[in-house]
Amino acid sequence: MAAIVFDDFSYAYDGTTKALDGIRLEVAKGSFTVVAGPSGAGKTTLCLAACGAVPHYFGGSMAGAVRVAGVDTAAGSMGDIAAHVGTVLEDYESQLVTMTVAEEVAFTLENRGMKHETIARRIGEVLAQVGLAGLEDREVGALSGGQKQRLAIAAVLATRPGILVLDEPASALDPEGAEELYALLAGLNRETGMALLVVEHDLARVLAYADQMVVLAGGRVACQGRPEDVLPAMWRQPGLAAMVPPLWQIKLGLEEKLDESFAAWRNEEEAAAELGGFIAARRRGGEKSA
Ligand SMILES: Nc1ncnc2c1ncn2[C@@H]1O[C@H](COP(=O)(O)OP(=O)(O)OP(=O)(O)O)[C@@H](O)[C@H]1O
Ligand SMILES: [Mg+2]
Repeated sequence: MAAIVFDDFSYAYDGTTKALDGIRLEVAKGSFTVVAGPSGAGKTTLCLAACGAVPHYFGGSMAGAVRVAGVDTAAGSMGDIAAHVGTVLEDYESQLVTMTVAEEVAFTLENRGMKHETIARRIGEVLAQVGLAGLEDREVGALSGGQKQRLAIAAVLATRPGILVLDEPASALDPEGAEELYALLAGLNRETGMALLVVEHDLARVLAYADQMVVLAGGRVACQGRPEDVLPAMWRQPGLAAMVPPLWQIKLGLEEKLDESFAAWRNEEEAAAELGGFIAARRRGGEKSA
């Protein structure tokens, strides 16, 4: 069974203008799926639909269905959905409801009736994971924006959801913070099999980890599939080419120019290794013909 299925799903907040239009998308179990697209494309709405807030909190009108771990989100309660999906939205500050960092992580676990010792252990675990170890007693209001964002993620991770939905989770982080966060998420994805649906406009940040990329435009899926298929498709579309990570802009540009085909580079090291070999072979070819 897939983690999340959008089954020809359409949605309009006001009942007429479609924020999402005929979305067919599957997030496989254990997948690291990244959603990109211009402002207003429907990325946040997609997250809201995956956690049931659309339609449960927003009303509006919908067609088709969204299923998370087999649960139809429109038919299931928010509790049924929350048992499978953890969510950190764009407006992460509104998710923080307690006085201190430790209380914040404990909040949902206590509501679920978890034992005190288990909660204490989980608090230490997730705060260390997100880089907030030792800040248990710090007031939430005294944290920086980036720390609050990481706390919101820690509080959700503590519930150990099978599926994690994150809307621009690095928006309040500096470049190193963003890099650390994605390395952490990728590690959890690999080690625990937690499926990820992440909205991230900067695809360079997730290039090393994503196994599916989805580009939304005007509420529809413009491209979706493996990064090695989606990035070239984006490259060929004038409106989407600028969103291709610089490393792949170089790769695709070189391939065109040289009429070559390089591997699906995940990072600069892979690119450098392949280009090093390529240049050496060219040089040997040049020496032979001289
Ligand atoms: N609460 C709302 N009520 C009515 N319309 C909304 C609401 N939220 C979003 N919309 C509209 O739905 C469409 C999709 O918005 P959404 O926020 O999902 O886009 P997005 O891709 O997340 O954009 P951004 O990159 O700016 O975050 C837009 O046309 C937006 O104006
Ligand atoms: Mg958004």
